[in-house]
Amino acid sequence: MYILLMGPPGAGKGTQAAMLVEKFTIPHISTGDMFRAAVSEGTELGKQAKACMDAGQLVPDSITIGIVKERLAKPDCQNGFILDGFPRTIEQADALDNTLEELKIKLDRVINISVPAEDLISRATGRRICKNCGATYHVTYKPTQVEGKCDTCGGETYQRADDSEATMTKRLSVYAQQTKPLVEYYQDRGLYTEIDGRQAIDKVLTDIVASLRSE
Ligand code: AP5
Ligand code: ZN
Repeated sequence: MYILLMGPPGAGKGTQAAMLVEKFTIPHISTGDMFRAAVSEGTELGKQAKACMDAGQLVPDSITIGIVKERLAKPDCQNGFILDGFPRTIEQADALDNTLEELKIKLDRVINISVPAEDLISRATGRRICKNCGATYHVTYKPTQVEGKCDTCGGETYQRADDSEATMTKRLSVYAQQTKPLVEYYQDRGLYTEIDGRQAIDKVLTDIVASLRSE
């Protein structure tokens, strides 16, 4: 199953992807996670990505397309994947088309998790992530049982540097300008499903799974 998961910052892409990869046993490919890993490893890519991420801007297409191309060519992508946070520009979408054609892969579904802008700031500012296993929580919508400690592994939780209100506002405006046009791009192809991301986390998952089964 080849799934493309779209939606504005904070819509719930990572939360849903974590559950979908368990259900379908396919890899979760998140460009945001790849950049954050490069930042913590202190690589050259990480340095370039950090400056863009901290400013709420996109990492340049030339860099992003290269790392995704390399990742999709790995053997574990042969039976499917969930691509989360890519493409984010028309140029990235065109490059993805070419790469998939080369790899003889056809997308099964493009899922757009739709959440109004006014709900997204509180989702991002309240998000907490486990330093150890990467599990995502929210102080109000998905709190940990013990404050600051991951339910799964007991690791400490932290707040992403780009989850401040100011940076999130910038990310939302970048989304509106550069990424939202992709909705029309994929709508025209008949693989597109929009899911109401304002619903509870489990209900969003049920709707996504139903849309994948109705292919
Ligand atoms: P990235 O990490 O991809 O961030 P994003 O797209 O902004 O998305 P988020 O991770 O913020 O949100 P999400 O939709 O995964 O929501 P989550 O499930 O965590 O990118 C970060 C940066 O990297 C970019 O700004 C850019 O600089 C760079 N980058 C990445 N990809 C790039 C690309 N292709 N090109 C160029 N640059 C790129 O949920 C959010 C919160 O809400 C959580 O606390 C969660 O618990 C809660 N929540 C989730 N679902 C629900 C629900 N249904 N109800 C209530 N709360 C919920
Ligand atoms: Zn954990």
